[in-house]
Amino acid sequence: MTSAEDLRSRLVEEVSPSSTWRDTFMRVPRHHFVPDRIWVESEDDLTPLTRVEDPEAWLRACYSDRPLITQIDDGDANGRGYRSSSASMPSIVAMMLEAADLAAGHRVLEIGTGTGWNAALLADKVGRGNVTSVEIDPAVARQAEEALAGSGVHVVTGDGEKGYPPDAPYDRVLATAAVQRVSYAWVEQTSPGGRVVTPWGTSFHNGTLLRLQVEADGTASGRFGGNVGFMWVRGQRTPHGSLEDRVRPEHEYTETSTDLHPYEPISDFDASFAIGLRVPGMKDLLVFDDDVPGNPNYTVYLMDPGSGSWASWRVQPGPHDYRVRQHGPRRLFDELAEAYSWWRKAGRPEHTRFGVTVTPEGQRVWLDAPGNLVS
Ligand SMILES: C[S@@+](CC[C@H](N)C(=O)[O-])C[C@H]1O[C@@H](n2cnc3c(N)ncnc32)[C@H](O)[C@@H]1O
Repeated sequence: MTSAEDLRSRLVEEVSPSSTWRDTFMRVPRHHFVPDRIWVESEDDLTPLTRVEDPEAWLRACYSDRPLITQIDDGDANGRGYRSSSASMPSIVAMMLEAADLAAGHRVLEIGTGTGWNAALLADKVGRGNVTSVEIDPAVARQAEEALAGSGVHVVTGDGEKGYPPDAPYDRVLATAAVQRVSYAWVEQTSPGGRVVTPWGTSFHNGTLLRLQVEADGTASGRFGGNVGFMWVRGQRTPHGSLEDRVRPEHEYTETSTDLHPYEPISDFDASFAIGLRVPGMKDLLVFDDDVPGNPNYTVYLMDPGSGSWASWRVQPGPHDYRVRQHGPRRLFDELAEAYSWWRKAGRPEHTRFGVTVTPEGQRVWLDAPGNLVS
C-alpha cells in the first residue's frame, strides 16, 4: 500500500499550489480530517466507501483531486440523497485560499467547517488562535472539532450567515458553502481593507467565486471569477422536488414554438451565469429520451418551485423549430429568452465583468461598474 506521505506528495504535484501554499499543503494531511465513511460521486450516483472495508481505496480517495461527500441529507437516514457536507476538491480549496490573499497574523472567519481540513490549512498559514470556523450541523462540527484538536482553531456550532461577532473583527471571511445573497454580517465583521471570499451562484447557475473588498464606509464590492460549484448554505438552498412533483399531467399550459436552441443559454458558462442573474428562482433539468445521454431527442425543463411555474423545451434533430410549453404565472421560457437576448445585446459579457456591492440594505449585482445594475 502506498504511504499517505507519497500520495500527499503526488496530490500536491497534481494540484500544484503556489509556492506560498505548497508547504502548508504538505504539512496538513487531508486523510486526518476525512471521516471513516464517505461517498464518492460517479455520474449521478453516490458510492459509499468505508475505511474499515477498503482502507487502500479510502486513502487513495483522500488524496485524489475530488470532493468527498461526508454527509447526506443533513444526517437523515431517510432522505433523498441530498449532499449536505463534504471535503472540498483540493484544487478548488487551493484556488480559494489563493484568492483570499492570506498572510501570517490575519484573523480569519471560515463559514462551513465541514471536515476541518480547510480550517487546518488556514491555521497553518495565519497562525494558531487566529481562525474561527462556524459549522451549522452539530454532528459535523463535533467531528471537525475532534480532528482539529491542538490546531488552535475555534470551532463554533451555529449559523455562519450571522458570522461570529465575539471573535470579530476579521481580516478575511472565507465561505466554503455557496450563497445567492451575501450576508451583511460578514461585511460588518470584517475590518476595512479586508476581504470576503465566497462561492456565489443562482438557482440556475452554481456558480463562481466572489471576491469582495470591504471599504471604510461599511460596504463591500468586488467581482466574480472562476468556475466553482459548492453546496448551498442551509438557509439559501433551492427547494428540492422531483420533475414528477412539479410537472403534473393535469396542468394546463400554452404551446408555442421557437427557433432558439438550448445549447448556448443552458451550457455556456457566461450565458447561463447572466441568465441566472436576470431570472431569479429558476432551475433547469435536461431529460434525454429513454434516459440516454447523447440521445438527439431531449427536453429541457425550466421550473420555479416558488410559483409552481414550469416550461418544457423540446429538442429534436431537424429544422430549428422547437416546441415550448409554459405553465403557471411565470412564463419561464420567455423570461429565459429575454435574458439571453439581453446578454447577447450587451456583447456577451464574461462572468468576470459582473460584480456585487453589499450594503446594509442588501446586495446589488452590476456589469462593469457599480452604477450599471443588472438585477
Ligand atoms: C463543502 S462543505 C465545507 C468543506 C470544509 N471547509 C472542509 O474543509 O472540509 C460545506 C459545509 O458548510 C456547512 N454549512 C451549510 N450552511 C451553513 C451555515 N449557514 N453556517 C455554517 N455552516 C454551514 C455544511 O454543513 C457543510 O459542512
